[in-house]
Amino acid sequence: MIDVDQVRADTQGIAHSTHLLACGSALMPTCVVEAVITHTQLEAQIGGYEAQASQAEPLEKVYRSVAGHIGAAAHEVALMENATVAWCHAFYALPLKQGSRILTCEAEYAANYVAFLQRAKRENLKIEVIPSDENGTLDLAALEEAMGDDVGVVAITWVPTNGGLVNPAVEVGRIANAHGVPYLLDACQAAGQMRIDVEELGCDFLSATGRKYLRGPRGTGFLYIKDKWLDFLEPAMIDHFGAPWVARDKYELRDDARRFETWENSYALRAGLGAAIDYADQIGIDQINDRVTFLAEEARKALSEVSDVTVRDLGKSRCGIVSFSIEGFETQSIVKQMAASGYVIGASAPSSTRIDSERRNLPTLLRIAPHYYNTEEEVRGAVERLSSLIH
Ligand SMILES: Cc1ncc(COP(=O)(O)O)c(C=O)c1O
Repeated sequence: MIDVDQVRADTQGIAHSTHLLACGSALMPTCVVEAVITHTQLEAQIGGYEAQASQAEPLEKVYRSVAGHIGAAAHEVALMENATVAWCHAFYALPLKQGSRILTCEAEYAANYVAFLQRAKRENLKIEVIPSDENGTLDLAALEEAMGDDVGVVAITWVPTNGGLVNPAVEVGRIANAHGVPYLLDACQAAGQMRIDVEELGCDFLSATGRKYLRGPRGTGFLYIKDKWLDFLEPAMIDHFGAPWVARDKYELRDDARRFETWENSYALRAGLGAAIDYADQIGIDQINDRVTFLAEEARKALSEVSDVTVRDLGKSRCGIVSFSIEGFETQSIVKQMAASGYVIGASAPSSTRIDSERRNLPTLLRIAPHYYNTEEEVRGAVERLSSLIH
């Protein structure tokens, strides 16, 4: 069981508002804030390069923390400034034959889809969206059916930005692996709210961000690259950190995932990401998952009792993101009025998940996304306030 009093005592932001938007950017615990400030202060005191050198070991440990959290080895991890950069590094590096197909899901995130479109345009690729089953989950039978020699990659989003759906990432991995097709998994909204085990997932690449359920600082993320790819995969862009310039006409790729990194980085933010992951691991990801899903279900229950509110979450098993719409009300004005009442909730525009939004004819959705530091009273209070705003 999570010591809710303790995690709340560790979270400055709860004094300011009832923050229910972990799927946007969650509240950082104090240890994360301190890690960032301490490193920044050290940079101010002794210089940026000197601070990095003096903290070489703790900064190296961040890779081990990320790796440990996802069941990878440290050399399979690259630290990035966000999930999109991480994802793009993997996607744009992946060799795809002219005419080959990209298989994806209806819940795919906008940033990924526009990258599909760009490569499709440049390299004559085809994008094939695997339909969802009656629960709104990626249809595994349809995926199996779509597999073939011309599939270049299976790239899906595990948990979408616009709701509580959890796609069957492990089963997708089994299918992709059985057909020998590379598997790129967007775990941005999953990281920090559910267990990630790259072996079990069978993914070749996995991307995630720091600021959401992991409670890290903004401007952090990571990329996992399965070891076997490090023998030959060339990043789409390199610099002399990822690929040292060893002779006038020659560079040599690093032999680890850091070949996707560049020379300059925010070491303060990396220290914060490391602290966030260690903090999550201390609490325990399964306990976090239990509490987040419990609070989200409480929110769904309460919302479903409010007239004019429709809960929009898909899937059989649902995660911490609760999406809903309100008949006859403008979303942004609800978000603003809730904020003025001390409740931070969010919205998700159809263009963030265009395929799903068009299929379901969705308006801009409202999102409530509790984290384990929230209480049932806060969740109920938010729904009561919402109800009073619209009635
Ligand atoms: C499913 C999903 N993938 C990727 C991203 C992009 O993450 P980042 O903003 O860290 O690049 C988001 C952000 O909301 C997301 O929800």
